[in-house]
Amino acid sequence: MSRAESPPEGLEVLQGSAAKVDLHDDEAPLPRADLLSRVSGCDGVMVTGGDRCDGEFFAAAPKLKVISCCAVGYDNVDLAEATRRRIVVTNTPDVLTDAVADLTWALILSIARRVIEGDRLARSGEWRGWAPTQMRGADVAGKTIGIIGAGRIGTAVAKRAAGFSMRVFTVTRRSTRAELEATLRQSDFVSVHVPLTPETRHLFGEAEFRTMKPTAYFINMARGPVHDEAALVRALREGWIAGAGLDVYEHEPKISPELVRLPNTVLLPHLGSATIETRRRMAILAAENLLAVLDGRPCLNVVNPEVL
Ligand code: DGY
Repeated sequence: MSRAESPPEGLEVLQGSAAKVDLHDDEAPLPRADLLSRVSGCDGVMVTGGDRCDGEFFAAAPKLKVISCCAVGYDNVDLAEATRRRIVVTNTPDVLTDAVADLTWALILSIARRVIEGDRLARSGEWRGWAPTQMRGADVAGKTIGIIGAGRIGTAVAKRAAGFSMRVFTVTRRSTRAELEATLRQSDFVSVHVPLTPETRHLFGEAEFRTMKPTAYFINMARGPVHDEAALVRALREGWIAGAGLDVYEHEPKISPELVRLPNTVLLPHLGSATIETRRRMAILAAENLLAVLDGRPCLNVVNPEVL
């Protein structure tokens, strides 16, 4: 038996198999108690980032052989515990790279060119016509971008930056602290694309925001806890940086009320991979990953291969 949260195409893959499927068919996350009771007889589960797979979860699902994450990030899963219990964990890389990179650029352009504010003014009935100093933003073309995390998504963001004739700095896992600081000092846009790990939690705090230029913009499309949200609010309020474009939040789905009130933010509700085509590909891949592990067939997207 498998439990699934999936767009219909993923569900079709599961329903075409021999597995008995228990579907949570609602955009609202399954309440924790329901999740724990419904996984009890499952051999496999397909989860999204909001489903915390921790000790309590594993204890509730003693038959579990596979957790299929319908996401590239799997920080919601206690991987060490899954591995200890010999539960295979899979994810959906590659299929969402372009969608996330595209939306990163939507955030960069929206915050720099005040797109959301402009839309509000245009709709307000209060626009009095073109004016030379009205709603001036910042140039994007020709500027410098610091890309923090040079995996698939960071690389796709860098590729798009070339089209804007930008100077690109990338910071990788192997970069030194001095290289990170040099990037922060020089960049007009700092865009974060690292997975959430103990090392990247609060990678951006007071020191890092103070190192950035007061004219620079911070973009986070990765995971909220990579930034310290209280420090980010102060950075934005006190002008250490010019603005922020965020798709993710430290305490998702809660967003700091200060971030909501600040005029120099563009805020999205974790939409990085949210296109029809991409979510379809993710759902199909997550369903295929789940079935491959249950059937003992090879699966390319196992994040803890030592279990196999
Ligand atoms: C991911 O794939 O990790 C995304 O955050 C989910 O949309």
